[in-house]
Amino acid sequence: MSNKPLNGIKIIDFTHVQAGPACTQLLAWFGADVIKVERPGAGDVTRSQLRDIPNVDALYFTMLNSNKRSLSLDTKKPEGKAILEKLIKESDVLVENFGPGALDRMGFSWERIQELNPKMILASVKGFSDGHHYEDLKVYENVAQCAGGAASTTGWWKGEQSGPMISAAALGDSNTGMHLAIGILTAYIGRQQTGKGQKVAVAMQDAVLNLCRVKMRDQLRLDKLGYLEEYPQYPHESFSDVVPRGGNAGGGGQPGWILKCKGWETDSNAYIYFTVQGHAWEPICDALGKPEWKTDPAYTTPKARQPHIMEIFATIEDWLKDKTKFEAVDILRKFDIPCAPVLSMKELLHDKSLRASGSIVDVPHKERGSYVTVGSPIKFSDLKPEITGSPLLGEHTDEILSELGYSKTDIANIHAAKAV
Ligand code: COA
Repeated sequence: MSNKPLNGIKIIDFTHVQAGPACTQLLAWFGADVIKVERPGAGDVTRSQLRDIPNVDALYFTMLNSNKRSLSLDTKKPEGKAILEKLIKESDVLVENFGPGALDRMGFSWERIQELNPKMILASVKGFSDGHHYEDLKVYENVAQCAGGAASTTGWWKGEQSGPMISAAALGDSNTGMHLAIGILTAYIGRQQTGKGQKVAVAMQDAVLNLCRVKMRDQLRLDKLGYLEEYPQYPHESFSDVVPRGGNAGGGGQPGWILKCKGWETDSNAYIYFTVQGHAWEPICDALGKPEWKTDPAYTTPKARQPHIMEIFATIEDWLKDKTKFEAVDILRKFDIPCAPVLSMKELLHDKSLRASGSIVDVPHKERGSYVTVGSPIKFSDLKPEITGSPLLGEHTDEILSELGYSKTDIANIHAAKAV
């Protein structure tokens, strides 16, 4: 194996579903030895969830567990506990995202882990932070989106489609895992200074809230002003005392919207996102063939445009009606206008640039033949993560036991006790 920055870091990956696995997968790409500990017989629940091929690990699992080794271990059996203890003594990090209290019930409280290995970094994902009035709750993605402010601020504010809306992006799961990865690396660097491990935790609610920081900004502005000038409700509709859902509004200082392009009647993704960046107003007027807007006082400043911004978008939509989303972007990019086509998953899957950059990769797999996965979004000048297939359940059990010093006879006895 070529040298990678995280080579030598040994991680016990006691994670399941998405939030924890996304974190440890990232660390594995960058060179950590990630040992996925799974219940014998079943393993991570995602191995069998939403399968596309009978009796073969589901994509849900393969896309979140590449570059790892799998150790099947029943940590509720004494033999299993003894193996986990040995592993804890020899590892740097233990990552887990069990329901509240599960690790303690298993006999591996933070105190016990520290006794076993004072250098250990224990990294946890929970739905809510320690001491929170909801700390006992189990949490999945959409629950976190609701608890962290994303759902109340996403979607339509009026009409039949109004009501809180969940994002398809895994703001609760993978996003929390990415925060945890930063926490783990920080604790690891801290340990180099102090010689001591520490507990790192990220609550899904907090990770969602961190991404909703700008909506908290808006609440504070609304409290002060009573209105939010960049929201579609301004100036013709009234505001209540909470941040409203803003549909597809820009959300920052630049108004924007999703606009229909040629073919929208039959293609559900024939749209672009168009941003009216303040200083790009003149190029926008040139691109749209509306030079008169450059001097008309109703259009020259963002403040003047805001009351009729939807009419401006309607005019742009009219300009777009004989252009596909790709043709439109090709014209607009020449004018330096921030915009992009709305891309479907199918288009992303076949995007040549994403393949070339390694953001979408083909990975060999023992039972599937190969599978496509989303590669590292983080690019380095001196590291090209090589994505390797996810492990089969227990594929590396004997190998890991023997690395821990168990003899062939010991391993046979461990199998006989059904601890692995
Ligand atoms: N051997 C033996 N037992 C094992 C084991 C192993 N290798 N691995 C897990 N278990 C046991 C645990 O000890 C626990 O048992 P207990 O409840 O008797 O103490 C049980 O399996 C797992 O419990 P839990 O994590 O609560 O699973 P769940 O399926 O009921 O809940 C979640 C799933 C995701 C809701 C829950 O884990 C959770 O809230 N996690 C924290 C937040 C999170 O990460 N959510 C997002 C997931 S994408």
